[in-house]
Order: sequence, then C-alpha cells, then structure tokens
Amino acid sequence: MAASSGSREDATPGTLEETQVRAMFDRIAGLYDRMNTVMTAGLHHAWRRRAADLAALTAGDRALDVATGTGDLAFELSARVAPGGEVIASDFSERMLEIARAKASAGRREGAGVGLRFDSANALSLPYADDEFDAATVGFGARNFSDLDRGLQEMTRVVRPGGRVVVLEMTTPQRPPLSTFFRLWFDKAVPVLGRLAGDPEAYDYLPSSVRRFPGPSELAAVMSRAGLHEIRYILTAGGIIALHVGVVGHDRVADGVGETPPGRLA
Ligand SMILES: C[S@@+](CC[C@H](N)C(=O)[O-])C[C@H]1O[C@@H](n2cnc3c(N)ncnc32)[C@H](O)[C@@H]1O
Repeated sequence: MAASSGSREDATPGTLEETQVRAMFDRIAGLYDRMNTVMTAGLHHAWRRRAADLAALTAGDRALDVATGTGDLAFELSARVAPGGEVIASDFSERMLEIARAKASAGRREGAGVGLRFDSANALSLPYADDEFDAATVGFGARNFSDLDRGLQEMTRVVRPGGRVVVLEMTTPQRPPLSTFFRLWFDKAVPVLGRLAGDPEAYDYLPSSVRRFPGPSELAAVMSRAGLHEIRYILTAGGIIALHVGVVGHDRVADGVGETPPGRLA
C-alpha cells in the first residue's frame, strides 16, 4: 500500500511523474510487504480479501489485477476463480513483479488449478483486448496513477459488460477519533518508520498522496465517468480505507455519466 511519494520540488505534494513512481517502487520492493504489515498491524490482508469478494468472481472466471505490486490481491483473486480460472496481474515495476513471481512460485496463497501470470504493463495503456475479463481490481495503486480517469477507463474497457471494477484505496478519515489517529500515525509515525527502514523519501509523502487523492464520493464520480454503473462504496477501518465497486455498462465507451448516482453501501 505504501508510499505514493513525491520529490520535495513537486508542484503538488504527493504527486510524482510516472518514471519517478516506477523508480520508487523498484527501490522499495524489498521493504514493501513488511512495511505494509507494520503500518497496518497486518490488517491489509483483510482489506484485500474484502476487495476480492467485491469482484464477485466465480470458478472459471478471468480476472485482472492492475498495479499488482507484490501480488497479494492477485493471490486473493486466484483463490476465488479456482478451479479452472485465470488471473492476470500487471505492474510497471519490475522489482515488485519479481517479488510477486517469487511468491507465486513458492506457492503462496494461490488458488489450486488456476492460471496466474504476472505481466509488465502500464495501467494507463493496458495490453489487453476489450471485454477480456470478468472483473478488474486495483489495490492501493490508483493513488499513484498520473491520470486517474485514464486508469479507470482502461480497467473498464477490458472488463465485459456486467463485470465489475473494484478500487481499494486509503482515504482521509473526516471524523475524530480516527482523523486524529490518522494525523499522528501517518504524518508522524510512518515517516519515522520509513527512515528506520532505510527509505525516508518514499514514506514521507504517503500522507500527502492520500490527502491529494479524491474522497470517496469524488472517486465514485470518476468511476461513473469511466462508464461504470451501480457504483457503491464501503468505508472501513474507521474511515481510513475505501472500497469502491462498479458494474461495467453496455455504454461504457460513452463519455457521459453512469445511470445510477453513486452511493454508499449499507
Ligand atoms: C502501493 S503499491 C500497491 C501494490 C498492490 N496492489 C497492493 O495491494 O499492495 C502501488 C503499485 O502500483 C504500481 N503502479 C503505479 N502506477 C502504475 C501504472 N501506471 N502502471 C502500472 N503499475 C503502476 C507501482 O509500481 C506499485 O507496484
């Protein structure tokens, strides 16, 4: 989940050029899983499980996990399309993919009898055909896209009409006590952890990248613009985590707004 970082000269804090994002994740790949576990007290696995559930996959389905990083959300998806399904997971950081592939070949949490492939690909220009997948997911990756609209349009394009697009992301809690905790933990403690782990720059900007990212209802509007319908979101972990899901419409290439106004899941 970690860092969406930015150099100190960035015009907008928490934003980076694509080449800088890729270089940063190549650099922190070896730290990434451990930092996630420390920063979330291990809860990140449960959040990915919930995201995978929202994809509503069944045995034999084909799923895509975009910006897969070290692959944990792809492993969750693979368990849901077993047996006989396929998961393609893509990222543009070769070092993150190397770790994902090593975990897969060590047999970590892969669904039995499922094809699982890790591709090098840019989420803003996916090398897949229209309608190829039953669902597409992105976990803690959308925040790093240099063009969020484009990234969500690409995910929507490659999913068949009726299939789902799921976005798991951190968000800024609005109410105490979690808003206070968020400030203390992400503004103060996480940068210190980053320093101890040996990559202060990468973990300094995590809070600003989360603050810069659209809030839950704005993200739902971006999904709607991408051609998704029936958009709903869940806030969990006291409002720190947002899970959004939308259904691909038959008119997804239209540049208009989806039929159903976005809303919060009960
Ligand atoms: C915070 S990590 C998330 C990894 C993983 N999905 C997870 O759940 O932990 C963000 C990942 O997004 C990838 N990424 C960011 N922008 C991307 C893009 N435009 N195309 C492909 N991968 C991208 C990074 O390389 C990195 O591996």
